[in-house]
Amino acid sequence: MIAKKTITIATLTLLAGLAACGGEEKKPSTPPGAMPSAAETAPTESKDLSGMFTAADITLGDIDPAMVEKGKAIYDVKCQACHSTGPNRIVGPGWKGLTERRKPEWIMNMILNVDVMLASDPEAQKSLEECLVRMPNQGLTKEEGREVLEFQRTL
Ligand code: HEC
Repeated sequence: MIAKKTITIATLTLLAGLAACGGEEKKPSTPPGAMPSAAETAPTESKDLSGMFTAADITLGDIDPAMVEKGKAIYDVKCQACHSTGPNRIVGPGWKGLTERRKPEWIMNMILNVDVMLASDPEAQKSLEECLVRMPNQGLTKEEGREVLEFQRTL
């Protein structure tokens, strides 16, 4: 449950945050002003859990270097503006040690089903409270999401 106050604070922080970590970083594809209103009008079907990943959907073997490379390329284009590969937060949490903190299916759901996660998962909601910005869905395919996960395993 996200108080309206938080969303208002999020608007201000988002603008300040983007200005602060802008510079040569690529801007996220969603215009800053659009995010909080999307938050306020989050569709009710975003609580539909049918497309969610479970532990059974993901098999982790030895790290696959080809997948890591593809995942890194996706990161450079679509995630880097908000996520560092270190421990520090930019807009979202840094990814260092991510796969030790979070289960693979949880990570895949944050990448591919972020709206459902923010509507239903307590850990995702806690993260939103800390970051004050909703992560926009980056429109990745399952395969691309899995490649990013492989890259995250190396951090
Ligand atoms: C506009 C900024 C933005 C972009 C771009 C973005 N994220 Fe995020 N991400 C966030 C924020 C903010 C959070 C924390 C949850 C929230 O507030 O919605 C987050 C959380 C996450 C988490 C959970 C991390 C944790 O430690 O709990 C994962 C995994 C993640 N993002 C993956 C991605 C991937 C993969 C991409 C690129 C394909 C991406 N994000 C692009 C802002 C962004």
